[in-house]
Amino acid sequence: MGKQQIQSLRGMYDLLPEQTVDYDYILAAFRSVARSAGYGRIETPLLEDKALFERGVGADTDAVSKEMYAFTDRSDNGVALRPEFTAGIVRAFIEHGMNSQPQPVKLYSYGPLFRYDRPQAGRQRQFNQVNVEVIGEAAPSIDAQVIVLALRFFRRINLTNVTLQLNSIGDAACRGKYRTALIEYFKVNAKKLAAVDRERYENNPLRVLDSKEASSQSVLADAPQTLNYLCDACQAHFSGVLEYLDDLGVAYELNPLLVRGLDYYTRTVFEFYGEREGSQSALGGGGRYDALVERLGGQPTPAIGFALGLERMLLEIDEAGAKAVQPDDKRVYVASLGEPARLAAFRLIEQLLDGSVGALGAVDRDGIGSQLARADKLGVPLAIIIGQKEVREETVILRDMASGAQEILPLNGIVAELRSRFGIV
Ligand code: HAM
Repeated sequence: MGKQQIQSLRGMYDLLPEQTVDYDYILAAFRSVARSAGYGRIETPLLEDKALFERGVGADTDAVSKEMYAFTDRSDNGVALRPEFTAGIVRAFIEHGMNSQPQPVKLYSYGPLFRYDRPQAGRQRQFNQVNVEVIGEAAPSIDAQVIVLALRFFRRINLTNVTLQLNSIGDAACRGKYRTALIEYFKVNAKKLAAVDRERYENNPLRVLDSKEASSQSVLADAPQTLNYLCDACQAHFSGVLEYLDDLGVAYELNPLLVRGLDYYTRTVFEFYGEREGSQSALGGGGRYDALVERLGGQPTPAIGFALGLERMLLEIDEAGAKAVQPDDKRVYVASLGEPARLAAFRLIEQLLDGSVGALGAVDRDGIGSQLARADKLGVPLAIIIGQKEVREETVILRDMASGAQEILPLNGIVAELRSRFGIV
């Protein structure tokens, strides 16, 4: 009897070569967009002190209280796999004294995060985000710049139909008044709230605004709105953000119920949605977190950032029929026929690769027909065919896979020729 097969854990997936093509393209686009705007890459550990997330993200949030992969290590320290980037990056900012660098400090990151949630389309237990943080600047122009960076990135990966939702949830000065009004309103309407929301509104009324419970929706529709409770400073900040966005002609929807699921946010919060329907449709989101650096032991330092879900973007690219990348457009398939050609093809593949031209081919088998069929399947635009005649005459046949047109070119110089056709400089 064979051994029982071990499988990947629930909610954790392999990314296979056909998926990593778009994945890598998304990362490359993100790096390029972030770097040109002056962001530097930071990489923080996957594993952190559990208290960092309890204090940073909030012990009451779903991400920490219900979904965190937390355990004690072999020295009995409470540790956790990071459920998000922001808390770790702020920890690093403080730990490395980055407040003495020119402000703001602009940082980008990408990589895996872990949340023990119920897996479904667009929701995994190990998932990836691309993330940016701007730490050390309070001006509303920064909020607009950060939001516009995300929109530029979406355009770069051909996601052109992304909706931006915006809200301001105020700060410590105005949040209290709003909370009180909200609790009062939920108390009056408690009977109409779903049971879970009825239980949590006293402690966490803002979380109820984010409720997905059907029965709570009618109550939410008429709930007090944060924008009506903003203090003058928060009001002025939000108006500033909108003015900058308007100036650039950025379309947005004001969503008074948008509060986000993590506790550190202040003032501006935003989310991005694609065309995909369903509860897991947010491509990403973020906002200001002006009190977090101080809460984690640093000097008071304003900050803002966002994270976008990589798997959600991959789903969205499929949904929108968008093509993130044409991955195979700079590769040539080398096919050979007969014994002397086999060695010539073998050598040519390596010469092409040395010359930075993508090249592949199976030199040891198959007739020419099945080799070209394989080239077609791999989606390469060009094939080189070498037979006995070509070996003798020191030429190759270059075949355009789409049209079938063939030309004969000298073997000597084919690497340079392909480099120039593929625009490799
Ligand atoms: P978040 O809204 O918790 O924000 O996550 C951002 C995005 O990550 C989500 O919109 C979604 O696309 C993706 N995501 C979250 N959980 C999962 C999951 N279980 N499976 C697949 N994708 C998921 C944050 O994480 C904040 N740290 C963003 C931020 C940065 N705010 C300020 N700076």
